[in-house]
Parts: sequence; structure tokens; C-alpha cells
Amino acid sequence: MDITTNYLGMKLNSPVIAGSSGLTDSVDKIEALARHGAGAVVLKSIFEEEILFQFEDVLKDAEKDGVDLDQFDYFDFHLKGKKINHYIKLIQAAKQAVDIPVIASINCVSSHEWTAFADRLQDAGADALELNMFFLPSDFQRTSMEQEKAYFKVIDKVLAAVSIPVALKISYYFSSLGPMIQRLSKTGIKGLVLFNRFFSPDFDIDKMTVKPSFVFSSPAELAMSLRWIAIMANKVDCDLAASTGVHDGPALIKQLLAGARSVQTVSSLYRKGPTHIETMLDNLKTWMKTHDYHCLDDFRGQLSQEVTTNPAAYERVQFMRYFEGEKDLT
Ligand SMILES: Cc1cc2nc3c(=O)[nH]c(=O)nc-3n(C[C@H](O)[C@H](O)[C@H](O)COP(=O)(O)O)c2cc1C
Repeated sequence: MDITTNYLGMKLNSPVIAGSSGLTDSVDKIEALARHGAGAVVLKSIFEEEILFQFEDVLKDAEKDGVDLDQFDYFDFHLKGKKINHYIKLIQAAKQAVDIPVIASINCVSSHEWTAFADRLQDAGADALELNMFFLPSDFQRTSMEQEKAYFKVIDKVLAAVSIPVALKISYYFSSLGPMIQRLSKTGIKGLVLFNRFFSPDFDIDKMTVKPSFVFSSPAELAMSLRWIAIMANKVDCDLAASTGVHDGPALIKQLLAGARSVQTVSSLYRKGPTHIETMLDNLKTWMKTHDYHCLDDFRGQLSQEVTTNPAAYERVQFMRYFEGEKDLT
């Protein structure tokens, strides 16, 4: 049975990618993920702030954009430089240790000259680059158009700097999500990861304080990316990878049926360890055997909006008809 998939122009042994997180920040962890069937790994992101301040000449640009330089002292500067070198070494060592693609990840919020650093990741041997981009739309001075423009600016700069494939990991906070995903897919990037999941606040009502909410996703969170992978599957010019809420074999199968070329999983691996990838892949193979499928393309996208017999299901957003039979919901 063939469970290989093509993602970002690369052939992966399996469609399960270990997503960017602390699970991919060391060679030992990456080796374990590869051993248990990960098709690729996305390294823990290096953050724009960590890159930006390595280069003195870009400090001036950053200052112009309102970054307060006084808050960074020599020690910050020194530590950041060390962190970047550590990241480069991680890529080099991971590439030596495993045969699967190693995707470097940058968390970025601007198109500052940090983009010149992208080629150092490429030189270190990264097979691809995933840009994790997000601006919380709470800046009341910034229109949605300005917000969107920033994405295209970063993509242009990064694509000019590297020749390895570039993927973009986004959130669903866009005023017109479908058209935005489509436009992004036409920029020359090779993949879109739908969607990132963020650190969110919660309240402690006894201490009357704000605290972090759940760090890990729940399986129910699959719904958002499943809908959008299915809607966009045949409307984009790049690969789609599903992220958030992919916890088990059935969720993996659903995302492939929606049209994903790969899935990324993180919370499930934090909870169950790298061997869980094998379980997911075993589930996939058993299901494929039952349905007499020999490769992923035999069924990929079969429930995408354009292919399914019930495309309206993806447009339905209100619970109207459930009010009639509420007792059936339990
Ligand atoms: C502890 C932790 C650290 C993470 N760090 C990163 C990161 O550095 N870069 C990134 O793009 N996503 C990061 N993520 C988000 C994950 O890559 C993923 O998008 C998110 O957890 C949703 O997938 P899941 O439902 O499989 O957990 C992190 C998630 C967790 C739980």
C-alpha cells in the first residue's frame, strides 16, 4: 500500500508531518519522529525578533517602524545571535540524522531585512521554509487591506531570497478568508498550512486574573480546517496542509478526503508521544484496505466541496434546523 504524498514538490513517505513546536527542537526528538513514520518535520519557529537584532544595520529600519530599541541591551543582542547560530546548527544536524525533509520555520510579522536571513536557513540545508505569519487584528489604526498587504510584502521578499519551497501558515482571521487564501496561493508559494492555533487568554475567576487557556487543541477543533481545506482544495494554486485538531487516524483520513496533501499534528504527539504517528498510519492503511484504495490519490479530495455530492454542506453555517429536534443532540 502506498501512503506517500507530494508536498511542496517533495515526496514524503507519509502524509503526517510533525508540526512546529517544542517537539522538533532537538535532533533526538526529530530522529524519534522520523523513526515512527513522520513524513517530514517542521522545526520550532525562530522568531523575527530573534533574527532582527543580529544585524546592526536593520536596527535603524526597525526603529523607524516604532520598535523601541532601548529595551534591548547587549545581553539580548548576544543571546539572540547565539540562538540563531543554534538554529542553523539544528538544521545541519537534523539533515545529517534523518532522511525525511526538514522544514525550517520563521515566525514573522514584518518584511524587515530579516528576510535576508532566510537564505542562511537554505544554506544550512533546510528542505523548505514555513512562514508562520500572524497579526492579531486588534490594531485599530490598521485597515484590513493594510493588514493583508503585509502578507504579500513578506512573501515577495522571501521568495526573492530563497530557491527552496516556501509554505505559509496562516490563521483564519481574515475578513474575506476564501479569496485571501486563493490570492496567497497564487504568489509563488508552494503550500498553505490551514490553520495555525494561538496561545489564548482565559480567566481565573477565583484569583481574578488572566491566565493562559488550553495549550493543546482538542479533537473537536478539527472542524475549522476541515471545512476550509474542503472548500479551497480545488481553488488554489498550491498544496494545502491541514493543521489544528488532527489527533488520530480518522482525522487524518478526513483531511485527505477534504483534499489535504499532508496534515500537521502537534497536540496529539505531546499527549501520546512519537509512536502515535505509527498508530495514525496503521489506521489509515487499514481504512484504505477496507475501501480497496491503493494510494492516497485514489481518494484524496473525494469529499472536497467541488467533488462531493453535497457541496452546500460546506456553506451551511447556522444551526436553524436543529432547533426543531433539540433532544436528538445529546
Ligand atoms: C507547545 C507548542 C509550541 C508551538 N510552537 C510553535 C511554533 O514555534 N511555531 C508555529 O508555527 N507553531 C507552533 N505551535 C502551533 C502548532 O504548530 C500547531 O499549529 C497547533 O498546535 C495546532 O495543531 P494541533 O492541533 O495538532 O496541536 C506550537 C504549539 C504548541 C502546543
